[in-house]
Parts: sequence; C-alpha cells; structure tokens
Amino acid sequence: MPRVIVFDKFGGPEVMHVAEEPAAGPADGEVRVRIEAFAVNPLDLMMRSGTSPAPVPLPHARLGVEGTGVIDALGPGVTGLEIGDPVILTAIPDASARGSYAEYTSIPASRVIARPAGLDVTEAAAIWVAYSTAYGALVEKAGMRPGDYVLITAASGGVGRAAMQVASQVGAVPIAVTRHTAKKDDLTAAGAAAVIATDHEDITEAIRRHTGGTGADIVFDLVTGPGQQDLLKAARPGATLVAAGFLDPRPAPFPATPLTIYRYMGFEHTLDPVVVRRMAAFLNAGVHLGALRPAIDKVFTLDDVAEAHRHLEKGLNTRGKVVVTV
Ligand SMILES: NC(=O)c1ccc[n+]([C@@H]2O[C@H](COP(=O)([O-])OP(=O)(O)OC[C@H]3O[C@@H](n4cnc5c(N)ncnc54)[C@H](OP(=O)(O)O)[C@@H]3O)[C@@H](O)[C@H]2O)c1
Repeated sequence: MPRVIVFDKFGGPEVMHVAEEPAAGPADGEVRVRIEAFAVNPLDLMMRSGTSPAPVPLPHARLGVEGTGVIDALGPGVTGLEIGDPVILTAIPDASARGSYAEYTSIPASRVIARPAGLDVTEAAAIWVAYSTAYGALVEKAGMRPGDYVLITAASGGVGRAAMQVASQVGAVPIAVTRHTAKKDDLTAAGAAAVIATDHEDITEAIRRHTGGTGADIVFDLVTGPGQQDLLKAARPGATLVAAGFLDPRPAPFPATPLTIYRYMGFEHTLDPVVVRRMAAFLNAGVHLGALRPAIDKVFTLDDVAEAHRHLEKGLNTRGKVVVTV
C-alpha cells in the first residue's frame, strides 16, 4: 500500500508518522504523480507545529509544498502530458490535504511543469520553492535589472542561495548577509559579490562601501524582525524592499524612509499560469547555461523524515536545501 506522512496533532517532529492508504485520484483535470523526492521548507515546520499563518485542519494532515516525480495517471480532460513524464510540482496551496510527503499525490495538471534536463532527482526536488520565490520577488516584483545592487539576508539558506544565483543570471550584483563571519568564504564561493557578516560589521556602513556610497537598489529580506531597520538605512532613496521571509518573528519597525515595500507570498505568482511559464523558462535557461544549480545540504529517506525536520529546525542546514527521497 502507498505510504504517506501524516500528523494528527501539532507538535515536534515526532508527531509525524507513516500511514498506508490507497493513492487517491486523479479527478477531472488532475494528474497523479509518483513522488520521487521533496524538499523540506520552513513552512512545513510551521504547519507541523501549529504556527503557520493558514489554518491546518486536524487530524490526518499532510505536509509538503514542493516535490518532483513522474506522472502515474491522467484524469479526464488532461491533455499535453503523458504517463511517465518527469515533472516538478509548482504549487500545493492545500498541502495539508495533498502534500508531497507521500509516494503519490494528485494535483491539477496546471500545477506541474516538465523537470528541467540536467538536474538529478534531489536537485529537481530542491529547485522550485527556492528559485521561484527568488525569481518572483526579485524579477517580477522588484523589477531587478543588470547592475542593481541586491542586498540578500539569510543568504546561507535555500532561498538566499537561489537569490544570489538569480541575481547573477540577470547581471545584478548580489551582496549576501550572514550573522556569522565563519560563513563568509562559503557565501563567496556560492556566488556573492560581497558578504556582510553582522557579527562584526555594521550593515549600513558596509553596504555603502560595497556600492560606491549609493546604497542597495533592492533589499531581499528573508528575516524581517527589528533588524529590518538597518536594511532600510542600507537602501538608497527610491529603492525597493521585498520582505519574503519571517525567520525572526519579532515585529519589524514602521519604515520612515522613501522606499517601495512589498510583502511577498509565492502563491501570488505560482498560482498564475502565465507567471509560472516565465518562471519555468527562466529556470530552464539558467540550468541549461549552468547559472542555476540548487545547493543540497543533506538527503534523508522517508523513514527519517522526523530527522530531516530536526536538521532544519536546529539550523544545521548550513549548505543548502534539505531533501527527502521517497
Ligand atoms: N514568501 C514566500 O513565498 C516564501 C517562500 C519560501 C520561503 N519563504 C521564507 O523565507 C525564509 C527563508 O527560507 P529558507 O528556505 O531559505 O530558510 P533556510 O534555508 O532555513 O535559511 C536559513 C538561514 O537563514 C538565516 N537565519 C535563520 N534564522 C535567522 C534569524 N533569526 N535571523 C537572521 N538570520 C537567520 C541563517 O543564516 P546565517 O546563520 O548565515 O545568518 C540560516 O542559515 C523563511 O522564513 C521561509 O518561510 C517564503
């Protein structure tokens, strides 16, 4: 019987368990995907612990907002896809019902794209949320252009690393922020044009030095919290700040500087087929040219999914995405 990860109450990683149940669907307009691997995202930890912004109905909640696999069955009315096609899942807004932590899931056919050639299964599992978020926030939302100085917080993480590569692909200048001097060399190797370590540097002073005194054109903030105050000072007048992550749950200050500020949620773009087509084209081109390559920190198996959550929760994912193979 196919296996699926479920949880019946909110709590630590131990609340997740394996259930065996028939693979559902696909209904009209849906495809059923045999999942080969999925990445673990901070949102999964929030859903499991009961702290996600959207309510999670219990019991028997599923998890997983991204993954890759092959099409296993086509629902009535589906055209343009074949059984056996390797695909990436692009949006699972109802992850608590159809999540990718499973051997099978059925989703609307419009929410899969062809798996880019040249990626192995773990890389394909790790690419979508990180790179679509970075592309959507920086290119679609902030209008990033060649030469822009782009300040990226939490640059060591999955989305931050993707943002550095996306900025470089466009010809912009990615400036990474980390809390730890010890991570500077790794971030330089990962593509940062400059790295600011906040344990010994002042962001405002450092960004002026790295931008010839002008300040950042775009700030991509994956942390938010009180530290956003320093990012606002590091941006040039008229710059754009996109807040896409909330790793620091404390309130952010009200900005007193003349910036354009967006709060970014990926579903704004990943549920729009026109934007998804642009995202897929950008990713395919980047992978083909060698400009985009997801960094994998560690790979777990479905039996070790609780360990995968602990790894991310303890911040041990210092080199990229956490992936689970099914
Ligand atoms: N808006 C969207 O659609 C969307 C999509 C995907 C993810 N997100 C959000 O984006 C954020 C980043 O996701 P991710 O997958 O890249 O996470 P991740 O891989 O777990 O990133 C972890 C990195 O963030 C930094 N960090 C962690 N806690 C921090 C804190 N309190 N203050 C400052 N830095 C901190 C650390 O870097 P250093 O140790 O080097 O400082 C750490 O290595 C999350 O909040 C996630 O929920 C949003």
